[in-house]
Amino acid sequence: MKANILLLPGDGIGPEVVAEAVRVLENIAGKCGHSFFFSERLIGGCSIDKFGSSLTDETLADCQAADAVLLGAVGGPKWDDPLATDRPERGLLALRKGLKVFANLRPVKVYPGLIDSSPLKPERLKGVDILFLRELTGGLYFGFPKGRTEKDGRVRVVDSMEYYDYEIRRIVELAFTLAKTRKNKIISVDKANVLESSRLWRQIVTEVGARNPEVAFEHVLVDTAAMRIITGPASMDVVVTENMFGDILTDEASVLAGSMGMLPSASLGETSLGLYEPIHGSAPDISGQGIANPVGAILSAAMLLRYTLKLETEAAAIETAVEKAIASGARTCDLGGSLKTHQMSDEIIKLIS
Ligand code: IPM
Ligand code: MG
Repeated sequence: MKANILLLPGDGIGPEVVAEAVRVLENIAGKCGHSFFFSERLIGGCSIDKFGSSLTDETLADCQAADAVLLGAVGGPKWDDPLATDRPERGLLALRKGLKVFANLRPVKVYPGLIDSSPLKPERLKGVDILFLRELTGGLYFGFPKGRTEKDGRVRVVDSMEYYDYEIRRIVELAFTLAKTRKNKIISVDKANVLESSRLWRQIVTEVGARNPEVAFEHVLVDTAAMRIITGPASMDVVVTENMFGDILTDEASVLAGSMGMLPSASLGETSLGLYEPIHGSAPDISGQGIANPVGAILSAAMLLRYTLKLETEAAAIETAVEKAIASGARTCDLGGSLKTHQMSDEIIKLIS
């Protein structure tokens, strides 16, 4: 199998973790006879510095032409001015929109060896394996009207939670499809007691649910869902929700896994082109020290193999190697260990069979 993988290392620890994911992909390619061709472009703060834009048209076009895109992280204090016209995060949002990757898959799994890394009680964490499905190209992040105006000495700001029915339907349908490969169980998260967009969301989930009677679904309000992630995460399987709720709930859920550094994501659309990124940020506090946890990026590479390249065996081989490395005690500093970024990957690569 040949594939063109476009790398967008980005800012902060992004380049450090993407480099390790590439090592893992090269190792798998060597073992299984695949040829992966990597090219690299800028996104986020580094792209603002070099080109004056967080995502150039050329970079977006190169991403659209690739088979898959692997991203590190964007952002940092240097580009944090709230009044700046461009921000690193804008580049990431424009990329998601430009690639039309509306479905963000964020699996949250608790490895037995990391139960003690989480502040939650161990008995709540046993067997946690949740697949969050976050809508990624609609809602508050992209809705109109949006912006800041000034009138009569007052400043008015507006963000809009905007959704079209088709945008809700396609992510909900994907949730049902994925639920059938798991435990046939969905929690749909909304705020239907307050928001119009959530009432349409709920209506569509109910419609799709009626056509898929083998899948049990439940509507849960977002505030209650936030609580249940802490009180009963082991009973959750597929969780589907809109963009902003998904952003917040997945950071919350990352605490279950012991560290944000562990968690991967895949953003998918209607074609096989996918965008893969760890869910953590650029972590400016530790960047440049070689101590970041590369597991989120490595597991994102595994998702790339699974969803874009359909290399299930290779994807599973990476995931098993991560599991074994964790079980054998390999830990970066976010997990209370002392391994450097590249040493953590060494441990994982050694265990790929
Ligand atoms: C994430 C991040 C992004 C988001 C930011 C960096 C724009 O928090 O991927 O979860 O809000 O989507
Ligand atoms: Mg987030």
